[in-house]
Amino acid sequence: MKQINWKQLGFHYTETDYIVRCEYHDGKWGEPVVTSDKTITLHLSATCLQYGQEAFEGLKAFRGADGKIRIFRMEENARRMARSAEGLCMAPVPEDLFCRCILLALENNLDYLPPYDTGATLYFRPLLIGITPRLGVGPGRDFLFAVIPSPIGPYYPVGFHGTPFIVNRRVDRAAPFGTGQFKVGGNYAASFRGTEAAHAQGLSCLFLDSVERKYIDECGAANFFGIKHGKYITPASTSILPSITNNSLMQLARDNGIEVEQRKVLLEELADMTECGACGTAAVISPISRVIDPDNGKIYEFGDEPGQVSKMLYNALQDIQYGRADDNHGWCRVY
Ligand code: PLP
Ligand code: COI
Repeated sequence: MKQINWKQLGFHYTETDYIVRCEYHDGKWGEPVVTSDKTITLHLSATCLQYGQEAFEGLKAFRGADGKIRIFRMEENARRMARSAEGLCMAPVPEDLFCRCILLALENNLDYLPPYDTGATLYFRPLLIGITPRLGVGPGRDFLFAVIPSPIGPYYPVGFHGTPFIVNRRVDRAAPFGTGQFKVGGNYAASFRGTEAAHAQGLSCLFLDSVERKYIDECGAANFFGIKHGKYITPASTSILPSITNNSLMQLARDNGIEVEQRKVLLEELADMTECGACGTAAVISPISRVIDPDNGKIYEFGDEPGQVSKMLYNALQDIQYGRADDNHGWCRVY
């Protein structure tokens, strides 16, 4: 076990001993390679550099209360990465190859798996890039898939406490039927103007739909949910990433007798919500303390402490991830 101050870890890269990578040439994937070399030699005309042909994923392994290791819904990440690949005309990584690479990254970096009860986990960042040199505009034919592990702590520095957000009607993250539904680097680059402007004010950015700028899309790098009249409400939108965490929370809400509505959510509905939050692999559930609408001066207040439903869902999710509760939906692979 490495000497790392696990409880102090934030969402930052900590280098581990090994990464895993695998290449696609001539229409087929090669065998995964475990290597300590975290650099690549890449032609400057590679399609990932020239035209942004890049997709990634994010998933976690947890050291459980019982000492076992659990990887959460890895197959869902594999399927989403395959959809992102198809979205950018890349060769999808087959599900079994994706899972093999994650397991290799875990087995070869066990010293970096944070101990139970530190709030830290081992995060995997699968990455798929087009590496064919090409100046003509179009997709490449060669791809590199890599899994980069890193122990991480909470995404929002305050952890399970309220984070303030601001909306920005001058920056759109993604267009309807564009690439917002895929996990591709371009979406994040497109969001930087919004997220950096918010950060400069000590806030995070809440993105609205890019057509009418009336409906909530998502929270930076996480989905949005709110509780209204006791129901779990979350946006249906063609420009947001289908979050695996959100999907799990919807299931856990239903399991606990809470009605779920996935539909367009007007920003103004925040006024009728008792609590709301950002949810995702990195964010887990990060309660939203306040949403500022700078265009009309409205401020929707929720307070710094997580609401009751957020707390219940947070515990229900983490109890499964840390092996403290039965995994009734078969979400974890246990080692
Ligand atoms: N939305 C965006 C834009 C994200 O980057 C993420 C993170 O992966 C999410 C939502 C949450 O998705 P998931 O719960 O699958 O991590
Ligand atoms: C995740 O939640 O896994 C993400 O990838 C979000 C962000 C850190 C990019």
